[in-house]
Amino acid sequence: MVAKLDEKVAIITGASSGIGEATAIALAAEGAKVVIAARRGDRLEALAKRIESSGGQALPIVTDITDETQANNLIHKANAELGRVDILVNNAGVALTGNIDGGNTSDWRRMFDVNVFGLLYATHAVLPIFKAQGSGHIVNISSVAGRIARAGVGIYNATKWGVNAISESLRQEVLQDNIRVTIIEPGLVETEINNHVTDPVAKKNVEARIKAIAPLQSEDIARAIAYAVTQPPHVNVNEILIRPTQQER
Ligand SMILES: NC(=O)c1ccc[n+]([C@@H]2O[C@H](COP(=O)([O-])OP(=O)(O)OC[C@H]3O[C@@H](n4cnc5c(N)ncnc54)[C@H](OP(=O)(O)O)[C@@H]3O)[C@@H](O)[C@H]2O)c1
Repeated sequence: MVAKLDEKVAIITGASSGIGEATAIALAAEGAKVVIAARRGDRLEALAKRIESSGGQALPIVTDITDETQANNLIHKANAELGRVDILVNNAGVALTGNIDGGNTSDWRRMFDVNVFGLLYATHAVLPIFKAQGSGHIVNISSVAGRIARAGVGIYNATKWGVNAISESLRQEVLQDNIRVTIIEPGLVETEINNHVTDPVAKKNVEARIKAIAPLQSEDIARAIAYAVTQPPHVNVNEILIRPTQQER
């Protein structure tokens, strides 16, 4: 049987853990050649071995997505080595939550640098390739936090609101080129994301929210991404919002 993504090349940013790692495994299982990017090269190498031991193909490229030159290099190296790029999953992200009042301004910059500028740099670099091919698919990982603002989450909210605005605007700009743009909006997913929170109160809050319910797992989101990117070319799944069953908001 021919897998749905045979001959396709998918770049996944933030593939060294969590949702990105699960997505790389899911898209490779559908037959895609996956280009896996993040800063932690050892984690990427281990993931590439895992994918290859299951019969897939993976190319790890160490990338700090906040550096425009490295983001460009990721896209161009993937295209040069694998001959094309069909899917870009802009997944790399940080959620350094905490109140705006008295907040940590370097956390704010880091969130905008990774969640917004990193996504934009990779998108900017891949669009000429997609336009020349006459096809392509960008999947932007937003969040429930891109739809509902909460006290103590405002700057993360702002970055994900930005992701939604960028995605919808871009969708309208490039639809005539047969380029699809999909927004994925997960609720609480059990990953490493909260390990990096610097504000102790915010960390306690998010850990309590996760503990109170049965959270999503990375594979739950990976399945949604695989669904979106395996539709026929005339179908653009614009947006998928997925909460754990027990998450209220
Ligand atoms: N977990 C949730 O509850 C949840 C809910 C909604 C949305 N999301 C979104 O889902 C996405 C993935 O998060 P996750 O939950 O899977 O968290 P995670 O396990 O912490 O993964 C985040 C990934 O982003 C990468 N990353 C961070 N900074 C980077 C940089 N400067 N350059 C390149 N890569 C960078 C990390 O790799 P390195 O550290 O190796 O660079 C890691 O692979 C994020 O966009 C997040 O906002 C998560």
